[in-house]
Amino acid sequence: MRLVFMGPPGAGKGTQARQICEAQSIPQVSTGDILRAAVKTKTAMGLEAKRYMDAGGLVPDEVVIGIIRDRVQEPDAQGGYLLDGFPRTVAQAEALDALLKELGSGLDRVIDLAVPDADLIGRLTGRRTCPACGWGCHVLFAPPKTKDKCDQCGAALIQRADDSEATAKKRLATYHAQTAPLLDYYKSRPIFRSVKGVGSMDEVNKRLREALA
Ligand code: AP5
Repeated sequence: MRLVFMGPPGAGKGTQARQICEAQSIPQVSTGDILRAAVKTKTAMGLEAKRYMDAGGLVPDEVVIGIIRDRVQEPDAQGGYLLDGFPRTVAQAEALDALLKELGSGLDRVIDLAVPDADLIGRLTGRRTCPACGWGCHVLFAPPKTKDKCDQCGAALIQRADDSEATAKKRLATYHAQTAPLLDYYKSRPIFRSVKGVGSMDEVNKRLREALA
């Protein structure tokens, strides 16, 4: 399956994508994760991307389109993939369509995970992630077994730099200005589904599985 997960920051794309990818045996291709890895290793692309990410804005289209072009052609993506957080602008969606046409493939589902703004800032500011293995949780909604420690490897959990309240609000504004218009790009296509992202993580997961069936 070739899938796209869209939705505002904190909608639960990453949380749900991990489970869906495991169930479908496909790689989770998160432009956010790829960019954070580049920031951590201080590559030229990472240093450029950091400026935009810290400000709550979007990294330039040509950078993320280049990342996706390479990533979907890797061997582990030949049986499908889930794009988590890409495309995020109409220009990115058009580039993805052109790339898929060139590769002779297409998308099976575009899923919008819909969560009201009122829920998002709390989800983002309470998120904690493991710098060692990437595991994620929420201090209130999905707390770790031991306070501030990763359930999987025991490392000290951290808060993402862009999950401060001020930057989270800027990311949400960026979403409404630049990414929400993308819904119009996809919503007339038969592969588009809007899935309610509120309720327990299991409830959201059940709705997603139904939307993918
Ligand atoms: P990215 O990492 O993609 O961030 P995002 O889209 O803002 O999404 P998040 O990862 O913050 O949220 P999520 O929807 O995955 O939520 P999660 O599952 O973690 O991008 C970061 C930055 O990189 C961007 O700002 C931009 O600068 C740049 N970038 C990335 N892609 C780009 C692109 N294509 N173009 C340009 N720039 C790009 O859940 C959040 C929290 O909520 C967690 O703590 C979780 O435990 C909790 N939670 C999940 N589900 C529920 C639930 N049902 N109930 C209660 N809590 C829940």
